Amino acid sequence: MPLIPEPVVPAGVWGARVQPTLAAGSLVLRPWCAGDAPAVRAAYDDDAIRTWHARTMRDDDEARAWIDGKNAAWRQERAAEWAVVEEGEVVGRVALTRLNLYEGGGALAYWVVPAVRGRRVAVRAGTEALRWAFEDLGLQRVEVEHSTRNPASCRVAELLGCRAEGVRRGHALHADGHHDMHLHARLRTDA
Ligand SMILES: CC(C)(COP(=O)(O)OP(=O)(O)OC[C@H]1O[C@@H](n2cnc3c(N)ncnc32)[C@H](O)[C@@H]1OP(=O)(O)O)[C@@H](O)C(=O)NCCC(=O)NCCS
Repeated sequence: MPLIPEPVVPAGVWGARVQPTLAAGSLVLRPWCAGDAPAVRAAYDDDAIRTWHARTMRDDDEARAWIDGKNAAWRQERAAEWAVVEEGEVVGRVALTRLNLYEGGGALAYWVVPAVRGRRVAVRAGTEALRWAFEDLGLQRVEVEHSTRNPASCRVAELLGCRAEGVRRGHALHADGHHDMHLHARLRTDA
């Protein structure tokens, strides 16, 4: 039985295209490549990245598998994942995950390596990823969800114009158990 609404974004179009490279001032957002494996592995040496993304990265082989998964997710229209690069160095990750093209929804994820924190890299990269999500891809709503114990991510979400919508109790499993998750979202129609 067919669904009544038309899809917000038609399936089978974007995944067949080359994932775009985007610019945000001094930052370049480009698809991950195999050569980024050492930088990804090093990023996951950071306690905060490991904690809030709830995974380890043992060696470059695991990092390469992670990168392959990110690029496969683009082809399968499940996510758009970018390396955030400054002066040729990987300084972060920004991603639109949990894409639901039919409903026009997705979620924004980010991390920034410790050496460049404090310069609003996540906000600058996230602003461009959101622009692409709304203007180019055509999404209707993008969520940010972070543990209530992660105030830095909360501030980034606010600076990205993603309004606080409430707390999902015990919603995400971390190494130390389930965390309450603060939900933010921005709509295409928001100012
Ligand atoms: C969250 C993260 C991406 C932000 O990195 P960044 O882009 O360098 O962010 P900045 O340090 O420039 O901070 C951005 C804003 O948050 C604020 N902030 C930073 N740490 C904070 C904290 N512990 N509590 C409250 N606010 C904080 C900053 O003051 C800044 O706001 P301002 O510019 O108005 O002063 C980075 O800390 C990180 O990678 N953390 C680990 C991974 C993570 O938490 N990812 C998100 C999972 S949901």
